[in-house]
Amino acid sequence: MSSFSSKIGVLLAAAGSAVGLGSIWKFPYVVGENGGGAFIILYVVFSLIFGLPLVMNDFMIGRLSGKSAYGVFRTLSGTNHWQWLSWLTMVTVTLLTSFYFVVTGWCFYYLTEAAMNTFAGMDAEGLTNFFTAFGHKPLTMIGYAFVAIVLTAAVLWFDVNKGIERLSKILMPLLFLMLIVMASHMVFLDGGTTGLKFLFEPNFSKLTPKVILEAVGLSFFTLSIGLGILITYGGYMPKEEKETLHSKEKNIVNTSIQMIALVIFISLLAGMIVFPAVFAYGFSPAEGPQLTFVTLPAVFQNMFCPTLTSVSFFALMCVAAITSTISLMEVMVAFVREASEDTKRPLNRHKSVIIVGVIQLITNSLCILSMTGSVRWLTVMDKNLFDTANNLTTDILIPIGAMGTSIFTGWFIPKARYQSSPMISFLYLLTLRWIVPVVIFIIFLESMNVFQFTIITK
Ligand code: PHE
Repeated sequence: MSSFSSKIGVLLAAAGSAVGLGSIWKFPYVVGENGGGAFIILYVVFSLIFGLPLVMNDFMIGRLSGKSAYGVFRTLSGTNHWQWLSWLTMVTVTLLTSFYFVVTGWCFYYLTEAAMNTFAGMDAEGLTNFFTAFGHKPLTMIGYAFVAIVLTAAVLWFDVNKGIERLSKILMPLLFLMLIVMASHMVFLDGGTTGLKFLFEPNFSKLTPKVILEAVGLSFFTLSIGLGILITYGGYMPKEEKETLHSKEKNIVNTSIQMIALVIFISLLAGMIVFPAVFAYGFSPAEGPQLTFVTLPAVFQNMFCPTLTSVSFFALMCVAAITSTISLMEVMVAFVREASEDTKRPLNRHKSVIIVGVIQLITNSLCILSMTGSVRWLTVMDKNLFDTANNLTTDILIPIGAMGTSIFTGWFIPKARYQSSPMISFLYLLTLRWIVPVVIFIIFLESMNVFQFTIITK
Protein backbone atom coordinates (compact mmCIF):
# COMPACT_ATOMS: atom_id res chain seq x y z
CA MET A 1 0.00 0.00 0.00
CA SER A 2 1.54 3.35 -1.07
CA SER A 3 1.82 6.05 1.57
CA PHE A 4 3.53 9.35 2.29
CA SER A 5 5.86 9.16 5.24
CA SER A 6 5.10 12.50 6.93
CA LYS A 7 2.51 15.27 7.26
CA ILE A 8 4.86 17.79 5.69
CA GLY A 9 5.28 15.40 2.76
CA VAL A 10 1.52 15.38 2.17
CA LEU A 11 1.35 19.16 2.43
CA LEU A 12 4.22 19.81 0.03
CA ALA A 13 3.01 17.25 -2.52
CA ALA A 14 -0.52 18.71 -2.42
CA ALA A 15 0.79 22.27 -2.65
CA GLY A 16 3.07 21.13 -5.49
CA SER A 17 0.05 19.87 -7.37
CA ALA A 18 -1.93 23.02 -6.74
CA VAL A 19 0.82 25.53 -7.49
CA GLY A 20 1.39 25.15 -11.18
CA LEU A 21 0.74 26.86 -14.46
CA GLY A 22 -2.55 27.98 -12.91
CA SER A 23 -0.78 30.16 -10.35
CA ILE A 24 2.18 31.34 -12.41
CA TRP A 25 0.72 31.58 -15.92
CA LYS A 26 -3.07 31.80 -15.60
CA PHE A 27 -3.48 33.75 -12.36
CA PRO A 28 -1.50 36.85 -13.46
CA TYR A 29 -3.16 37.18 -16.84
CA VAL A 30 -6.68 36.57 -15.52
CA VAL A 31 -6.08 39.14 -12.76
CA GLY A 32 -4.67 41.49 -15.41
CA GLU A 33 -7.74 41.12 -17.58
CA ASN A 34 -10.13 41.57 -14.69
CA GLY A 35 -8.76 44.72 -13.16
CA GLY A 36 -6.45 43.65 -10.31
CA GLY A 37 -7.13 44.09 -6.58
CA ALA A 38 -10.88 43.59 -6.40
CA PHE A 39 -10.62 40.35 -8.36
CA ILE A 40 -7.96 39.12 -5.97
CA ILE A 41 -10.20 39.74 -2.98
CA LEU A 42 -12.88 37.62 -4.64
CA TYR A 43 -10.38 34.90 -5.49
CA VAL A 44 -9.24 34.71 -1.87
CA VAL A 45 -12.76 34.74 -0.46
CA PHE A 46 -13.91 31.98 -2.83
CA SER A 47 -10.84 29.89 -2.14
CA LEU A 48 -11.82 30.02 1.53
CA ILE A 49 -15.57 29.54 1.39
CA PHE A 50 -15.77 27.04 -1.46
CA GLY A 51 -12.19 25.87 -1.77
CA LEU A 52 -11.66 24.92 1.86
CA PRO A 53 -14.65 22.58 2.24
CA LEU A 54 -13.95 21.01 -1.16
CA VAL A 55 -10.26 20.45 -0.45
CA MET A 56 -11.11 19.01 2.97
CA ASN A 57 -13.74 16.81 1.41
CA ASP A 58 -11.38 15.35 -1.19
CA PHE A 59 -8.73 14.62 1.44
CA MET A 60 -11.32 13.17 3.76
CA ILE A 61 -12.98 10.72 1.42
CA GLY A 62 -9.57 9.61 0.17
CA ARG A 63 -8.35 9.15 3.75
CA LEU A 64 -11.50 7.32 4.87
CA SER A 65 -11.49 4.89 2.00
CA GLY A 66 -7.74 4.56 1.46
CA LYS A 67 -8.58 4.36 -2.25
CA SER A 68 -7.86 6.35 -5.38
CA ALA A 69 -10.50 8.02 -7.53
CA TYR A 70 -11.34 4.57 -8.94
CA GLY A 71 -12.39 2.85 -5.72
CA VAL A 72 -13.34 5.73 -3.45
CA PHE A 73 -17.05 6.07 -4.23
CA ARG A 74 -17.64 2.35 -4.42
CA THR A 75 -15.92 1.69 -1.10
CA LEU A 76 -17.68 4.48 0.79
CA SER A 77 -21.17 3.95 -0.61
CA GLY A 78 -21.00 0.18 -0.80
CA THR A 79 -22.66 0.28 -4.23
CA ASN A 80 -21.64 0.72 -7.84
CA HIS A 81 -24.04 3.62 -8.44
CA TRP A 82 -21.27 6.22 -8.23
CA GLN A 83 -18.79 4.52 -10.51
CA TRP A 84 -19.67 6.99 -13.28
CA LEU A 85 -18.11 9.72 -11.16
CA SER A 86 -14.85 7.75 -10.96
CA TRP A 87 -14.74 7.35 -14.72
CA LEU A 88 -15.66 10.97 -15.26
CA THR A 89 -12.72 11.95 -13.08
CA MET A 90 -10.43 9.76 -15.15
CA VAL A 91 -11.68 11.28 -18.42
CA THR A 92 -11.20 14.79 -17.01
CA VAL A 93 -7.66 14.10 -15.82
CA THR A 94 -6.73 12.50 -19.15
CA LEU A 95 -8.04 15.48 -21.09
CA LEU A 96 -6.49 18.05 -18.78
CA THR A 97 -3.14 16.30 -18.92
CA SER A 98 -3.34 16.24 -22.74
CA PHE A 99 -2.90 19.98 -22.91
CA TYR A 100 -1.07 20.54 -19.61
CA PHE A 101 1.99 18.66 -20.86
CA VAL A 102 1.91 20.73 -24.04
CA VAL A 103 2.21 23.98 -22.05
CA THR A 104 4.78 22.38 -19.73
CA GLY A 105 6.75 21.56 -22.90
CA TRP A 106 6.59 25.25 -23.88
CA CYS A 107 8.12 26.17 -20.53
CA PHE A 108 11.02 23.76 -21.15
CA TYR A 109 11.46 25.11 -24.68
CA TYR A 110 11.52 28.71 -23.43
CA LEU A 111 13.95 27.74 -20.69
CA THR A 112 16.42 26.26 -23.19
CA GLU A 113 16.01 29.17 -25.59
CA ALA A 114 16.46 31.68 -22.76
CA ALA A 115 19.61 29.85 -21.67
CA MET A 116 20.95 30.03 -25.23
CA ASN A 117 20.28 33.77 -25.18
CA THR A 118 17.89 33.57 -28.14
CA PHE A 119 15.70 36.39 -26.82
CA ALA A 120 18.57 38.90 -26.57
CA GLY A 121 17.45 42.27 -27.88
CA MET A 122 14.01 41.05 -29.01
CA ASP A 123 11.10 43.44 -28.48
CA ALA A 124 7.43 42.50 -28.04
CA GLU A 125 6.95 42.16 -31.78
CA GLY A 126 9.97 39.92 -32.16
CA LEU A 127 8.75 37.75 -29.33
CA THR A 128 5.26 37.53 -30.80
CA ASN A 129 6.82 36.31 -34.06
CA PHE A 130 8.95 33.85 -32.12
CA PHE A 131 5.85 32.49 -30.36
CA THR A 132 3.95 32.23 -33.66
CA ALA A 133 6.86 30.48 -35.38
CA PHE A 134 7.02 27.99 -32.51
CA GLY A 135 3.31 27.36 -33.12
CA HIS A 136 4.26 25.98 -36.54
CA LYS A 137 6.80 23.47 -35.28
CA PRO A 138 4.75 20.44 -34.22
CA LEU A 139 7.74 18.12 -33.94
CA THR A 140 9.66 20.45 -31.64
CA MET A 141 6.55 20.82 -29.51
CA ILE A 142 6.01 17.07 -29.34
CA GLY A 143 9.69 16.63 -28.45
CA TYR A 144 9.44 19.00 -25.49
CA ALA A 145 6.13 17.53 -24.30
CA PHE A 146 7.83 14.12 -24.48
CA VAL A 147 10.67 15.38 -22.28
CA ALA A 148 8.12 16.58 -19.70
CA ILE A 149 6.28 13.23 -19.81
CA VAL A 150 9.48 11.22 -19.37
CA LEU A 151 10.66 13.40 -16.45
CA THR A 152 7.28 12.99 -14.75
CA ALA A 153 7.22 9.23 -15.39
CA ALA A 154 10.73 8.94 -13.94
CA VAL A 155 9.51 10.37 -10.63
CA LEU A 156 6.42 8.15 -10.59
CA TRP A 157 8.57 5.08 -11.23
CA PHE A 158 9.38 5.16 -7.50
CA ASP A 159 6.84 4.63 -4.76
CA VAL A 160 5.14 7.83 -3.53
CA ASN A 161 7.33 8.34 -0.45
CA LYS A 162 10.52 7.93 -2.48
CA GLY A 163 9.44 9.70 -5.67
CA ILE A 164 6.76 12.38 -5.25
CA GLU A 165 7.42 13.08 -1.58
CA ARG A 166 11.19 13.32 -1.83
CA LEU A 167 11.08 15.52 -4.91
CA SER A 168 8.38 17.81 -3.50
CA LYS A 169 10.49 18.34 -0.39
CA ILE A 170 13.30 19.63 -2.62
CA LEU A 171 11.38 21.43 -5.34
CA MET A 172 8.77 23.27 -3.28
CA PRO A 173 11.22 25.14 -1.03
CA LEU A 174 13.30 25.86 -4.14
CA LEU A 175 10.26 27.25 -5.94
CA PHE A 176 9.43 29.39 -2.95
CA LEU A 177 12.94 30.75 -2.75
CA MET A 178 13.05 31.55 -6.46
CA LEU A 179 9.71 33.34 -6.24
CA ILE A 180 10.79 35.44 -3.27
CA VAL A 181 14.10 36.40 -4.85
CA MET A 182 12.44 37.37 -8.15
CA ALA A 183 9.56 39.23 -6.50
CA SER A 184 11.90 41.25 -4.31
CA HIS A 185 13.89 42.14 -7.39
CA MET A 186 10.82 43.26 -9.34
CA VAL A 187 9.03 45.30 -6.67
CA PHE A 188 12.03 47.60 -6.36
CA LEU A 189 12.12 48.47 -10.05
CA ASP A 190 11.48 52.10 -10.89
CA GLY A 191 7.75 52.33 -11.48
CA GLY A 192 7.19 48.95 -9.87
CA THR A 193 4.87 50.42 -7.23
CA THR A 194 2.22 51.06 -9.90
CA GLY A 195 2.20 47.30 -10.44
CA LEU A 196 1.76 46.68 -6.71
CA LYS A 197 -1.06 49.23 -6.58
CA PHE A 198 -2.76 47.46 -9.45
CA LEU A 199 -2.42 44.18 -7.63
CA PHE A 200 -3.52 45.29 -4.18
CA GLU A 201 -5.75 48.35 -4.61
CA PRO A 202 -9.30 47.14 -5.16
CA ASN A 203 -11.29 48.77 -7.93
CA PHE A 204 -14.78 47.40 -7.44
CA SER A 205 -16.21 49.07 -10.52
CA LYS A 206 -14.62 46.29 -12.60
CA LEU A 207 -16.63 43.55 -10.91
CA THR A 208 -19.43 42.04 -12.96
CA PRO A 209 -21.25 38.75 -12.43
CA LYS A 210 -19.09 37.21 -15.16
CA VAL A 211 -15.90 38.31 -13.43
CA ILE A 212 -17.19 36.94 -10.15
CA LEU A 213 -17.79 33.54 -11.71
CA GLU A 214 -14.38 33.64 -13.31
CA ALA A 215 -12.87 34.06 -9.85
CA VAL A 216 -14.66 30.89 -8.67
CA GLY A 217 -13.38 28.95 -11.70
CA LEU A 218 -9.79 30.13 -11.20
CA SER A 219 -9.96 29.21 -7.55
CA PHE A 220 -11.05 25.60 -8.35
CA PHE A 221 -8.40 25.24 -11.02
CA THR A 222 -5.54 26.49 -8.89
CA LEU A 223 -6.60 24.37 -5.92
CA SER A 224 -6.65 21.13 -8.02
CA ILE A 225 -10.25 20.45 -7.04
CA GLY A 226 -12.62 18.11 -8.90
CA LEU A 227 -10.07 15.77 -10.45
CA GLY A 228 -9.55 13.17 -7.79
CA ILE A 229 -6.03 14.42 -7.07
CA LEU A 230 -6.50 15.29 -3.45
CA ILE A 231 -8.65 12.16 -3.05
CA THR A 232 -5.72 10.03 -4.17
CA TYR A 233 -3.29 11.96 -1.92
CA GLY A 234 -5.78 11.64 0.96
CA GLY A 235 -5.54 7.88 0.50
CA TYR A 236 -1.74 8.16 0.91
CA MET A 237 -1.91 10.16 4.17
CA PRO A 238 0.17 8.43 6.85
CA LYS A 239 -1.75 6.68 9.61
CA GLU A 240 -0.98 7.60 13.20
CA GLU A 241 -0.61 5.09 15.97
CA LYS A 242 -3.50 6.14 18.19
CA GLU A 243 -5.78 7.58 15.64
CA THR A 244 -9.24 8.87 16.51
CA LEU A 245 -11.88 10.42 14.30
CA HIS A 246 -11.06 13.74 15.94
CA SER A 247 -7.30 13.53 15.26
CA LYS A 248 -7.94 12.51 11.64
CA GLU A 249 -10.29 15.43 11.16
CA LYS A 250 -7.86 17.87 12.79
CA ASN A 251 -5.08 16.66 10.51
CA ILE A 252 -7.17 17.12 7.41
CA VAL A 253 -8.41 20.57 8.42
CA ASN A 254 -4.85 21.73 9.17
CA THR A 255 -3.37 20.35 5.96
CA SER A 256 -6.16 21.91 3.90
CA ILE A 257 -5.80 25.34 5.50
CA GLN A 258 -2.02 25.30 5.12
CA MET A 259 -2.26 24.18 1.50
CA ILE A 260 -4.74 26.90 0.56
CA ALA A 261 -2.69 29.55 2.35
CA LEU A 262 0.40 28.47 0.41
CA VAL A 263 -1.42 28.55 -2.93
CA ILE A 264 -2.81 32.04 -2.31
CA PHE A 265 0.54 33.31 -1.12
CA ILE A 266 2.43 31.86 -4.10
CA SER A 267 -0.12 33.17 -6.62
CA LEU A 268 0.26 36.64 -5.09
CA LEU A 269 4.04 36.33 -5.30
CA ALA A 270 3.68 35.47 -9.00
CA GLY A 271 1.58 38.62 -9.38
CA MET A 272 4.28 40.58 -7.54
CA ILE A 273 6.80 39.43 -10.14
CA VAL A 274 4.66 40.03 -13.19
CA PHE A 275 2.88 43.34 -12.58
CA PRO A 276 5.68 45.56 -11.28
CA ALA A 277 7.77 44.43 -14.28
CA VAL A 278 4.92 44.97 -16.75
CA PHE A 279 4.08 48.44 -15.43
CA ALA A 280 7.68 49.54 -14.97
CA TYR A 281 8.29 49.12 -18.70
CA GLY A 282 4.98 50.51 -19.89
CA PHE A 283 3.28 47.30 -21.07
CA SER A 284 -0.40 46.52 -20.58
CA PRO A 285 -1.43 44.11 -17.83
CA ALA A 286 -4.34 42.83 -19.93
CA GLU A 287 -2.35 40.94 -22.57
CA GLY A 288 -4.17 37.65 -21.99
CA PRO A 289 -2.55 34.21 -22.13
CA GLN A 290 0.55 35.51 -23.92
CA LEU A 291 1.47 37.66 -20.91
CA THR A 292 4.08 35.18 -19.67
CA PHE A 293 5.37 33.91 -23.03
CA VAL A 294 5.57 37.19 -24.94
CA THR A 295 5.20 40.25 -22.72
CA LEU A 296 7.41 39.12 -19.86
CA PRO A 297 10.43 37.99 -21.92
CA ALA A 298 10.15 41.34 -23.73
CA VAL A 299 10.11 43.15 -20.39
CA PHE A 300 13.12 41.14 -19.20
CA GLN A 301 15.14 42.33 -22.20
CA ASN A 302 15.01 45.85 -20.76
CA MET A 303 16.36 44.77 -17.43
CA PHE A 304 19.78 44.73 -15.92
CA CYS A 305 20.52 41.01 -16.47
CA PRO A 306 18.12 39.85 -19.20
CA THR A 307 19.45 36.32 -19.66
CA LEU A 308 19.65 35.50 -15.98
CA THR A 309 16.20 36.96 -15.32
CA SER A 310 14.59 35.05 -18.22
CA VAL A 311 16.30 31.79 -17.30
CA SER A 312 15.26 32.14 -13.64
CA PHE A 313 11.68 32.90 -14.58
CA PHE A 314 11.27 29.97 -16.98
CA ALA A 315 13.07 27.63 -14.60
CA LEU A 316 10.53 28.65 -12.00
CA MET A 317 7.67 27.89 -14.41
CA CYS A 318 9.15 24.47 -15.22
CA VAL A 319 9.42 23.55 -11.54
CA ALA A 320 5.84 24.69 -10.84
CA ALA A 321 4.51 22.82 -13.87
CA ILE A 322 6.34 19.57 -13.24
CA THR A 323 5.13 19.25 -9.64
CA SER A 324 1.59 19.52 -11.04
CA THR A 325 2.07 17.04 -13.91
CA ILE A 326 3.41 14.59 -11.33
CA SER A 327 0.13 14.75 -9.43
CA LEU A 328 -1.97 14.51 -12.58
CA MET A 329 -0.15 11.46 -13.83
CA GLU A 330 -0.08 9.83 -10.39
CA VAL A 331 -3.88 9.98 -10.29
CA MET A 332 -3.99 8.11 -13.58
CA VAL A 333 -1.40 5.57 -12.45
CA ALA A 334 -3.27 4.91 -9.18
CA PHE A 335 -6.52 4.60 -11.12
CA VAL A 336 -5.10 2.10 -13.63
CA ARG A 337 -3.57 0.03 -10.84
CA GLU A 338 -6.75 -0.09 -8.80
CA ALA A 339 -8.94 -0.80 -11.82
CA SER A 340 -6.62 -3.62 -12.86
CA GLU A 341 -7.13 -5.27 -9.46
CA ASP A 342 -10.67 -6.06 -10.61
CA THR A 343 -9.22 -8.18 -13.39
CA LYS A 344 -7.22 -11.38 -13.21
CA ARG A 345 -3.99 -9.55 -13.99
CA PRO A 346 -3.32 -6.73 -11.55
CA LEU A 347 -0.68 -4.30 -12.87
CA ASN A 348 2.27 -3.12 -10.83
CA ARG A 349 3.43 0.52 -10.57
CA HIS A 350 6.01 0.28 -13.34
CA LYS A 351 3.66 -1.22 -15.91
CA SER A 352 0.97 1.32 -15.03
CA VAL A 353 3.45 4.20 -15.41
CA ILE A 354 4.41 2.94 -18.87
CA ILE A 355 0.77 2.55 -19.96
CA VAL A 356 -0.17 6.04 -18.73
CA GLY A 357 3.00 7.56 -20.24
CA VAL A 358 2.18 6.09 -23.66
CA ILE A 359 -1.43 7.32 -23.45
CA GLN A 360 -0.09 10.78 -22.59
CA LEU A 361 2.33 10.80 -25.46
CA ILE A 362 -0.48 9.92 -27.87
CA THR A 363 -3.05 12.41 -26.54
CA ASN A 364 -0.54 15.26 -26.28
CA SER A 365 0.73 14.61 -29.80
CA LEU A 366 -2.84 14.67 -31.10
CA CYS A 367 -3.47 17.98 -29.33
CA ILE A 368 -0.29 19.44 -30.82
CA LEU A 369 -0.97 18.17 -34.34
CA SER A 370 -4.45 19.62 -34.17
CA MET A 371 -3.37 22.94 -32.71
CA THR A 372 -0.60 23.53 -35.23
CA GLY A 373 -3.03 22.67 -38.05
CA SER A 374 -0.79 19.79 -39.18
CA VAL A 375 -3.72 17.40 -39.35
CA ARG A 376 -6.70 19.43 -40.44
CA TRP A 377 -9.49 17.03 -39.59
CA LEU A 378 -8.41 16.80 -35.94
CA THR A 379 -10.97 19.29 -34.67
CA VAL A 380 -14.15 19.27 -32.62
CA MET A 381 -16.83 21.67 -33.79
CA ASP A 382 -14.25 23.78 -35.61
CA LYS A 383 -12.03 24.10 -32.55
CA ASN A 384 -8.63 22.48 -32.27
CA LEU A 385 -8.17 19.72 -29.68
CA PHE A 386 -6.01 21.89 -27.40
CA ASP A 387 -8.75 24.51 -27.00
CA THR A 388 -11.44 21.85 -26.76
CA ALA A 389 -9.61 19.98 -23.98
CA ASN A 390 -8.85 23.24 -22.16
CA ASN A 391 -12.40 24.59 -22.27
CA LEU A 392 -14.14 21.30 -21.69
CA THR A 393 -12.14 20.51 -18.57
CA THR A 394 -12.05 23.96 -16.97
CA ASP A 395 -15.59 25.05 -17.80
CA ILE A 396 -17.53 21.80 -17.62
CA LEU A 397 -15.82 18.67 -16.33
CA ILE A 398 -13.98 20.07 -13.28
CA PRO A 399 -17.15 21.78 -11.98
CA ILE A 400 -19.19 18.58 -12.53
CA GLY A 401 -16.53 16.55 -10.69
CA ALA A 402 -16.53 19.04 -7.79
CA MET A 403 -20.32 19.11 -7.65
CA GLY A 404 -20.53 15.30 -7.83
CA THR A 405 -18.11 14.72 -4.94
CA SER A 406 -19.79 17.44 -2.93
CA ILE A 407 -23.25 15.89 -3.34
CA PHE A 408 -21.83 12.43 -2.69
CA THR A 409 -20.41 13.36 0.73
CA GLY A 410 -23.16 15.82 1.62
CA TRP A 411 -26.03 13.44 0.99
CA PHE A 412 -24.82 9.88 0.64
CA ILE A 413 -22.22 9.09 3.30
CA PRO A 414 -23.60 8.52 6.81
CA LYS A 415 -22.52 11.52 8.91
CA ALA A 416 -21.28 9.35 11.76
CA ARG A 417 -18.47 8.09 9.53
CA TYR A 418 -16.61 11.35 9.41
CA GLN A 419 -17.72 13.96 11.89
CA SER A 420 -16.45 14.70 15.34
CA SER A 421 -17.32 18.35 15.89
CA PRO A 422 -20.88 19.69 15.54
CA MET A 423 -19.65 23.12 14.43
CA ILE A 424 -17.53 21.75 11.58
CA SER A 425 -20.26 19.36 10.62
CA PHE A 426 -22.84 22.14 10.36
CA LEU A 427 -20.76 24.45 8.16
CA TYR A 428 -19.29 21.62 6.16
CA LEU A 429 -22.60 20.02 5.38
CA LEU A 430 -24.27 23.32 4.60
CA THR A 431 -21.56 24.02 2.03
CA LEU A 432 -21.39 20.55 0.55
CA ARG A 433 -25.12 19.93 0.39
CA TRP A 434 -26.32 23.30 -0.76
CA ILE A 435 -23.90 26.12 -1.41
CA VAL A 436 -21.41 24.32 -3.70
CA PRO A 437 -23.99 22.54 -5.89
CA VAL A 438 -26.06 25.71 -6.30
CA VAL A 439 -23.09 27.92 -7.11
CA ILE A 440 -21.69 25.45 -9.63
CA PHE A 441 -25.09 25.12 -11.23
CA ILE A 442 -25.19 28.90 -11.66
CA ILE A 443 -21.72 28.83 -13.22
CA PHE A 444 -22.99 26.29 -15.73
CA LEU A 445 -26.00 28.32 -16.69
CA GLU A 446 -23.73 31.29 -17.10
CA SER A 447 -21.21 29.46 -19.26
CA MET A 448 -24.04 28.26 -21.46
CA ASN A 449 -25.06 31.89 -21.78
CA VAL A 450 -28.38 31.33 -20.13
CA PHE A 451 -27.90 34.63 -18.32
CA GLN A 452 -27.05 37.50 -20.57
CA PHE A 453 -25.15 39.61 -18.06
CA THR A 454 -24.60 43.17 -19.06
CA ILE A 455 -21.22 44.55 -18.21
CA ILE A 456 -21.66 47.50 -15.91
CA THR A 457 -18.60 49.67 -15.64
CA LYS A 458 -18.76 53.11 -14.20
N1 PHE B 1 -3.69 23.43 -9.87
C1 PHE B 1 -2.86 23.28 -11.00
C2 PHE B 1 -2.35 24.63 -11.43
O1 PHE B 1 -2.63 25.61 -10.83
C3 PHE B 1 -3.55 22.70 -12.18
C4 PHE B 1 -4.12 21.45 -11.85
C5 PHE B 1 -5.46 21.33 -11.84
C6 PHE B 1 -3.27 20.43 -11.49
C7 PHE B 1 -6.01 20.19 -11.46
C8 PHE B 1 -3.81 19.26 -11.11
C9 PHE B 1 -5.17 19.15 -11.10
O2 PHE B 1 -1.66 24.70 -12.40
